[in-house]
Amino acid sequence: MSIQEIIKQFEPRQHNLLNILHALQDIHPQQYLTEDALDETARYLKLTKSSVYGVARYYTMFSLQPRGRYIIRVCASAVCELLKVNSLIAALEDLLGIKTGETTADHLFSLELSECLGQCQEAPSMMVNDQVFNNLDNERIREIIGQFRQTAAGS
Ligand code: FES
Repeated sequence: MSIQEIIKQFEPRQHNLLNILHALQDIHPQQYLTEDALDETARYLKLTKSSVYGVARYYTMFSLQPRGRYIIRVCASAVCELLKVNSLIAALEDLLGIKTGETTADHLFSLELSECLGQCQEAPSMMVNDQVFNNLDNERIREIIGQFRQTAAGS
């Protein structure tokens, strides 16, 4: 689907801005908002480009940079922090060979931090795209990353 086809699924009302940005980011294989996508959105909703860019920059769920096929969002909020999520983040960085905020050279994984994922009772937690993973430890993280690598290799 083209950018225009996606945008036209929504009524041209300003309250649809976030929904349109989500839809445009989701259809891009590198899960980010391109300049064209932002410009077309501004035109369609009769908003200034700077206001659309401002919204896209404000929300951490949007990216203006190409990202990996799998976006890992590790909860860095209070409960997970208490449960030593920092050592898990370090383990993920080692495993993936990147720092938080970066994307692997093969464009498979991006590593990001997140606010509370609402999974505190089973913390520490992270999401990979739309999937939630709880009760994490180093071994579980290795398994999860291994599974996603296998899936990618088989597709
Ligand atoms: S603090 Fe991490 S899931 Fe709530």
